[in-house]
Amino acid sequence: MADGKMMIETFRLTKMFKDFTAVDNVDLYVKEGEIYGLLGPNGAGKSTIIRMLTTLSRPTRGTARVAGYDIIREAEKVRGSVGMVSEKMIMYDRLTAYENLRLFGKLYNVPRKDLDDRISDLLKIVGMTKWSDTQIGKFSTGMKQRINVIRSLISMPRIVFMDEPTLGLDPQSTAEIRNFIKKLNEKDNLTIVLTTHIMNEADLLCHRIGLIDGGKIARTGAPTELKSSITDRGHTLVELDIMDAPHDAAEGFLSLEGVTSAAQKENIVKVIMSKENGFQNILDASSRMGLRLRNANVSQPTLEDVFLHYTGKAMVDQVKNRVPMAGHGPHRRSNSRTR
Ligand SMILES: Nc1ncnc2c1ncn2[C@@H]1O[C@H](COP(=O)(O)OP(=O)(O)OP(=O)(O)O)[C@@H](O)[C@H]1O
Ligand SMILES: [Mg+2]
Repeated sequence: MADGKMMIETFRLTKMFKDFTAVDNVDLYVKEGEIYGLLGPNGAGKSTIIRMLTTLSRPTRGTARVAGYDIIREAEKVRGSVGMVSEKMIMYDRLTAYENLRLFGKLYNVPRKDLDDRISDLLKIVGMTKWSDTQIGKFSTGMKQRINVIRSLISMPRIVFMDEPTLGLDPQSTAEIRNFIKKLNEKDNLTIVLTTHIMNEADLLCHRIGLIDGGKIARTGAPTELKSSITDRGHTLVELDIMDAPHDAAEGFLSLEGVTSAAQKENIVKVIMSKENGFQNILDASSRMGLRLRNANVSQPTLEDVFLHYTGKAMVDQVKNRVPMAGHGPHRRSNSRTR
């Protein structure tokens, strides 16, 4: 997987809407067989990147190669190589699952003799065989999304783009869709690019992640690499649970020797500090600041900590619907400084 062919490579990919830069000089690559996740809050530019890579939107500057083709000069060839699971499902409620898939196959000129086999294989993968002749309108959101996902595979693309594939699904459907994504990737070594703003989704599914914020890639790497990157060079993450924490509790730690970042979410403050400066310093500082500690321990960084560290922003996890994200939410109390 890691030594695979280059399937996507972007070159200072940029998209502006009037004078607003939605995607800002993005350089990323995805190799064959990888599941690559674009992880970032609402408005970060994830969908815009995907729209450019699938030729639905033209870059303002820069370009990319997708499946070996230039997205501007060889757009037609790119379209022939990719599948797309878009945020909005465009399917016909009055047609059955089978009919919807067949319609799509025809649209993509899948040879007639292959189409039926392909549809039944795909229905089998997502456990929907027995629903083949049922109208889509009668399906739950989770069932519809399974059809929506396999629909992107009808044309046998080499790369599939999935924009928030689990958005708005209940926990069980979410788990199922994640399983199918894994299965599809493993079965055919399919390259998958997905967007999400759910930390543990990216952590669970993706071989590599691009953290994106304000149109820029803040950091890329495997989930484990990203997590260890914030505590490398002799640093450690200390998690403090503070009783009735004042909203500026994190700030007090930032001025301490050896502290590289401190972030707060309600009563939890996470401090990244050099090991040699010692746990005891943190405890002493807490008591100097008059903070009442309920608990303090060294903990393993999560992707959320990573995001906070590199962007200075908290990302709300497990957001079901479009609620205000970092910086706008009522609970945002975080401060972060990066090395
Ligand atoms: N057609 C457009 N015209 C003007 N602005 C746009 C357009 N499309 C996107 N934007 C803006 O570009 C920024 C990035 O949008 P984008 O949809 O790519 O974000 P996203 O990361 O997919 O967010 P979400 O998690 O909400 O889907 C946003 O500020 C958005 O308002
Ligand atoms: Mg989006």
